[in-house]
Amino acid sequence: MTPTFYPAKRKLLTLAALVATLALPGLAQAQAPIVIKFSHVVADQTPKGQGALKFKELAEKKLPGKVQVQVFPSSQLFGDAKELEALLLGDVQLIAPSLSKFDRYTKKIQIFDLPFLFDDIDAVDRFQSGPAGQGLLNAMTGRGLRGLAYWHNGMKQLSTSKDKLQRPEDVKGLKFRIQASDVLEAQFRALNANPQKMAFAEVYQALQTGVVDGQENTWSNIYSQKFHEVQKTIAETNHGVIDYMVVTNAKWWDGLPADVRKGLSEAMAEATTHANKLANDINEADKKKIAESGKAKLAKLSKEDTAAWRKTMEPVWKKFEGDIGRDLIDAALKSNK
Ligand code: LMR
Repeated sequence: MTPTFYPAKRKLLTLAALVATLALPGLAQAQAPIVIKFSHVVADQTPKGQGALKFKELAEKKLPGKVQVQVFPSSQLFGDAKELEALLLGDVQLIAPSLSKFDRYTKKIQIFDLPFLFDDIDAVDRFQSGPAGQGLLNAMTGRGLRGLAYWHNGMKQLSTSKDKLQRPEDVKGLKFRIQASDVLEAQFRALNANPQKMAFAEVYQALQTGVVDGQENTWSNIYSQKFHEVQKTIAETNHGVIDYMVVTNAKWWDGLPADVRKGLSEAMAEATTHANKLANDINEADKKKIAESGKAKLAKLSKEDTAAWRKTMEPVWKKFEGDIGRDLIDAALKSNK
């Protein structure tokens, strides 16, 4: 039997169908947020780990239903050797490698690895916030990488499996794990030591089994990776910096809807402020925990000791000045008070 419709009812049904049709694209969007994978190699409780989690919280709050941020800490997806490649392939959308890991993409960024260039993290911050530092965020767009922000970790300390770690002579002939950076390689060669590039996730075991004798890192990385449990001495050298650039795939970023890009930029700016405020406190607290653990011994350096380290590492500057540019080095030096 054919159903009979009254004209008013028919109108209502047509209207309902129209509403459903119009709402469908909206519904589809609500069901399929843009998934943003943020991969990094450190633990959640480190400055970078905290920054990534804050970014997720803020991005999802600012863009409800539009984005979903998935954070993968501790090299869960892949290690630092693969993350830049994965970003360019579109397997992940955000990473925040240490500034030491970009030298295949721009030589300029090697500035951050020059030993004893920055007095402290505040000087690093002034340089990054100034025109020279901000310019470096765009130095790799030609290679498909867009820098969104700098995130702090902190100053590097040196550790070894030996009792004595006070003067440059004490590391002669020792094997050190380094990040993938030619400047850091030159730095350890200047110390007459043997550097070995190695992914972050492999360091603990390499120290434990004696594949390498030592490494350089921040207090927060040493503590969260338990390096102090497999090292005898940590010298408070503050000879360099480990900071990060949050980078995205430029093509992916430029292709985002404008409102999403805006929301993500705001979330990134706020997460940056948050993480950078925490970095110093996390490192100081972790230094204290290491000292209290009674595992590795902390060696304090005198002014003369520090001067000796500085002098031994000095040739590295000359070696890389051409690639980095004198103007950039001068700008960095100016950021020291
Ligand atoms: C390292 O490889 O030692 C660091 O760059 C790890 C990190 O991301 O802090």
